[in-house]
Parts: sequence; C-alpha cells; structure tokens
Amino acid sequence: MSAAHPVIQTEGLTKHFRRFYTRRVVQAVNGISLKLEGGTAFGLLGPNGSGKTTFIKMLLSSIVPTAGRAQLFGKDCRHPEARRQVGYLPENHRFPTYNTGRQMLHFYAALSGTNRAERITRAGELLERVGLADWADVRIGKYSKGMLQRLGLAQALMHRPSLLMLDEPGDGVDPVGRRMIRDVLEELQQQGTTIFLNSHLLAEVELFCNEVAIIRRGELALTGRIDRLTSGSGYHVSSPDAAEGALDELREKTASIESNNGMVRMQFTDREALNEGIDILRKYGSRIEEVQRKRSTLEDVFMSTISSVAEMLDAFKEQARRKKLVWFRSHSRKSWKLVPSLARVEGGWRDVVSRSGSPEQDGEHEVLVRS
Ligand SMILES: Nc1ncnc2c1ncn2[C@@H]1O[C@H](COP(=O)(O)OP(=O)(O)O)[C@@H](O)[C@H]1O
Ligand SMILES: [Mg+2]
Repeated sequence: MSAAHPVIQTEGLTKHFRRFYTRRVVQAVNGISLKLEGGTAFGLLGPNGSGKTTFIKMLLSSIVPTAGRAQLFGKDCRHPEARRQVGYLPENHRFPTYNTGRQMLHFYAALSGTNRAERITRAGELLERVGLADWADVRIGKYSKGMLQRLGLAQALMHRPSLLMLDEPGDGVDPVGRRMIRDVLEELQQQGTTIFLNSHLLAEVELFCNEVAIIRRGELALTGRIDRLTSGSGYHVSSPDAAEGALDELREKTASIESNNGMVRMQFTDREALNEGIDILRKYGSRIEEVQRKRSTLEDVFMSTISSVAEMLDAFKEQARRKKLVWFRSHSRKSWKLVPSLARVEGGWRDVVSRSGSPEQDGEHEVLVRS
C-alpha cells in the first residue's frame, strides 16, 4: 500500500437495477464520488433502501457498476489484489450453522490464504476479543443474532485487514455487545485501520465514526466530520436575572455561559444537564426567559432524509386507498422469493400490484395487492 493513495476513491459510481417483474428501473446508487484517507472511521448513513449495501458491494466488486469507477488503495477495485487488504462483514451473512465459531473462522481465513499456525493464534485471540471464548466450540446454530454479528466481526479481522467494511454491524446486537464492538473498532483505529461502516441509525454512526456521509435515494446529501456537524447542538437557555450563586453552580454543568446586557445565555449538551441546570436556576429563584433545542446539522439533514422516505410511504398508502387496493406490511421474504407477483394475505394468495424494498432486504416491506 502506498501512503499517497486514498484508501477508497470513487468517481460517479452508479448502479441501476431493473426489477424483473415490473421492468421498472431502480436507481439504487446515483453518481457517488467519495474519497477516504487512511485511518478514518467513516459512516455511511441513510434509511433502508437508500443504496448503502449496493455501494459497498460495488467497492467489493460483487456488483458491477452501471457507470463510474472505484479504487481501493489506488488500484481498480475489480483487481483481486485491491481487495486483499479488505475485511468485510456483510449485512445478512449466513454462516454454516453446523460449524462451531472456531471452525468457521478457520474456514474463512483459509479462503483468504492465512496459514494454519496464524489461523490458530488469530482465532483464539479474536474469539476472546469479541467475547465468544466460551462459545468457540459451540455450533453456530445455537448463537444469538448479536453473537453472530460479533463472530462476523472476528471473521472480517482474521487476515489483519487494513480496511474494514461493515454493513449494519450493530443489527440485533445488545448494548453490551455494541460496546464490545465499539472497543474493538477504537483499538483498530488506533492501530491505523480504516473503517467504513453502513448504518441506518444515527446513534450508531455517532458512536463509531469520526467522518460521516448521508445518502438519500442513492445520492450523497451531506459529508463532513462528526465533531463539526454536531457542534452547537444541544439546549440553549436564557435567564434575565441569573443569581451569582446559580452561575457558580452552573459552570460545571454547562458547555458555555455568556452574558449580554444582563441576559445570561447558557448552552447544555444534553437533556440531563439541561434539567439539572434548570433546577439550579429555580433553586436560586432566577427566572427563565427561553429554552431552545438546537439540533445539529447532521441530525437536521438526517431527519429531513427520513421524513422524505416517510412521505413516500404515505403517498404509497394514498395510492392504495384511491385504487381500492389493500396495503399491508409484510415480514415474510419466503413467499416473495417463491412467487414475487403473489402475496399471502389473511390466508389467501393475491396479485401484487407493487411493493417497496427488495427481496434481499430484511425486515418489513410494504405490499399493494388487489382486494
Ligand atoms: N439485486 C437487486 N435487484 C433489484 N433491485 C435491487 C437489488 N438490490 C438492491 N435493489 C434496490 O436498490 C435500492 C437500494 O438497496 P440497498 O443498497 O440494499 O439499500 P440499503 O442498504 O441502503 O438499505 C433499493 O430500492 C433496493 O430495492
Ligand atoms: Mg443495506
């Protein structure tokens, strides 16, 4: 790897799918140009269906782009050599359930060419690191979703990659597991590993990343450093007659205090600090003029992205109402895979008019059927 090259660089990367049955073109990723320097922890944030997985899969060359190009470590990503230093945790991995966690790590590391001695030490080390040492020799079929995610992370790290790509790593992981994942990622970052993470959760990206981009319907809506995008956020309180004693006590609770013509303005970073601050002001009998919530740019852009998706769904439901069609949410992907044009509603099969999401997508999707 040459230090001069960005770890990831894409130019106008684009992917359009054509839905098989409806023949409709889906613009999954639309002209994304992105550059990632080594050592960054980068988060690609966007609601479900916004194109995150498609983007990662193009970087890994498992999906061929419709247009544009992508480089890893300065090499075309279609070149196997470019992918040698990449570790990948896929979104919906299916590890063979009859293997134990340790066997699975051996299997995947062998595929990437790691020798036996190294595999033995690495597997032991990583199972310990992700909190699965006691489960190492238990069959994967018995693992919970959170344990599978942690095992998947260990799998991605077996060959000591210098770029780690994670697709929704926190999915189904409990808070303790999340904490463990965060600690592992922080440690890797200190060692200089570059991290690229996909997520539909703002909190997850805030937790793991120092740079972020928001993707909206396949296009980048915003990119920047987390600390800059979140600065100035929190709660602003102003008081016309804050007592001296109150100010003394408030100093350690506030992010900043400024006063102007007797009006004191305070900034609190979170809700707990805000409430404690208000208690202090009231205790000294100081009046409160105004309390204001200031959202960060990041949250603002993300919320507007989410609400545009919600609007789309509303339009979908409206269409259902007008055409006297039945609208419902479905969790089942099995029926979809068998016959995409039919859906099972209340025990009977109905013709599907349209549906959101894709067969690859887990979780809920909206379906319109003839009533
Ligand atoms: N193989 C495919 N065929 C057709 N459409 C697809 C395929 N894969 C993804 N899509 C569509 O592309 C869009 C983006 O999907 P995806 O990249 O999985 O989004 P995300 O990972 O952000 O949830 C969705 O509308 C999805 O339905
Ligand atoms: Mg995805």
